[in-house]
Amino acid sequence: MDAQLIHSLTAALAASPDNIALRLSVIRLHLDADRSEELNSLLAPLGPEDLDRAEDRLLIGRASIAADLPETALAFLTDDSAEARLERARALLELGREDEGTAEYQAAVRDNPALEDPGLAAQLKAFRPVVADDRPKLRVISNDDTMAEDLNRTLMPEQDRVTFANVHGLDKVKEEIRRKIILPYLKPSLFQKFRKRIGGGILLYGPPGCGKTLLARATAGECNAKFFNVMVSDILDMYIGESERKLHAIFDAARQQAPAVLFFDEIEAVGAKRQYSHEGTSAKVVSQFLSEMDGFNQDNQGVLVLGATNVPWALDPAFRRPGRFDRTFFVPPPDREARAAILNLELRDRPVAAGIDLEVIAKATGGYSGADLKNIVETASDIAIERSIDSGHEVPIEAGFLKAALEDSVATTLEWLTTARNYARYANDGGQYNAVLEFLRKHGKM
Ligand SMILES: Nc1ncnc2c1ncn2[C@@H]1O[C@H](COP(=O)(O)OP(=O)(O)OP(=O)(O)O)[C@@H](O)[C@H]1O
Ligand SMILES: [Mg+2]
Repeated sequence: MDAQLIHSLTAALAASPDNIALRLSVIRLHLDADRSEELNSLLAPLGPEDLDRAEDRLLIGRASIAADLPETALAFLTDDSAEARLERARALLELGREDEGTAEYQAAVRDNPALEDPGLAAQLKAFRPVVADDRPKLRVISNDDTMAEDLNRTLMPEQDRVTFANVHGLDKVKEEIRRKIILPYLKPSLFQKFRKRIGGGILLYGPPGCGKTLLARATAGECNAKFFNVMVSDILDMYIGESERKLHAIFDAARQQAPAVLFFDEIEAVGAKRQYSHEGTSAKVVSQFLSEMDGFNQDNQGVLVLGATNVPWALDPAFRRPGRFDRTFFVPPPDREARAAILNLELRDRPVAAGIDLEVIAKATGGYSGADLKNIVETASDIAIERSIDSGHEVPIEAGFLKAALEDSVATTLEWLTTARNYARYANDGGQYNAVLEFLRKHGKM
């Protein structure tokens, strides 16, 4: 519809090129549709003197930036509104005038915190500078090069950007994460104005293979932040003091590369209560971790700390105190719709026979995790490969292969849910497992 509208209005403009209102409409449509190629010629006949209204000048300023004409943008963006300032910041950044851009950006956000844009701020380096760290440094014990290499390996950001669109189902969790994490992260000043606390950590928990890691990556993607995936077991080191040093270096790296999401997978490896504790984890590592997180409270601009665990009940309560992992989200097994979507996604790039009804399999896989469903598709693929080799021609995945794979498989979330039910019933301090209870009730498992 947009394309049609753009087409007919462009034709009308060609007939009466002096109609400024019409020209503005066409420009707006191009801008909204992300079509920047033709903006150049559309903008050429316009001068700032042609436009009386501030909103029109703002529009042309935006369009000029989209058309890579930052100088032109500045000629139009002469107002003192927060919106105009924000666009000026963008134009100045393009022109390499970061200092002026930063000043404009800061003035814009002061006037209207809702305009905050961490991506732009990071490019302008307008984030609050990291406070100098005057804590005594841990003494270097090992060779520093291995340390740097280690850290890079541990922190290597994932390549592709994953967003919520890649996470099927889990609508409730996604909505909550959006409201409670992504928004405050993107607009901290707005939340501060209303005296809402921001920062602290977020803990994702739930049965294995149901998308905790995926969801953490997607949260980073939605925030447009760098994603640092830390396997907690990688930090733990047998040498005294080494784990603490690695931890500190990781938090430091994230601070320096804000906006960033720091994700600690399998957090229980460091934060387990004594009776569950890893032999290697010392109380020192725990306290280092907690003090790094507390340190973030004073200076957490642009860094979000996420953790994930299968065993929330094993976590030391000290980790759950305010400002630490004080918000928890239950990541349940996928519902029927999500299961169909996951199966579909897994089968998408493989040879598949026509007319397979995935709904049937989705229906039969209650309690299966995303990872379980992936396994079913893997097994079905193995059968297809075997058949292909036997018959000498390519045999695609058939419904029967999926059925056979299904019969060979088990749902791995049920055991977890049974354990969780006991904790939810008998150790639900502060209602921390209410989401689990709700899930179990909804599925008639209480
Ligand atoms: N809701 C979902 N949508 C799409 N893919 C999913 C979903 N849930 C799980 N998967 C897929 O299943 C696999 C396992 O998911 P993931 O690693 O995120 O689970 P996890 O909860 O972190 O598991 P673990 O507790 O074992 O670490 C991944 O390949 C992921 O892409
Ligand atoms: Mg995981």
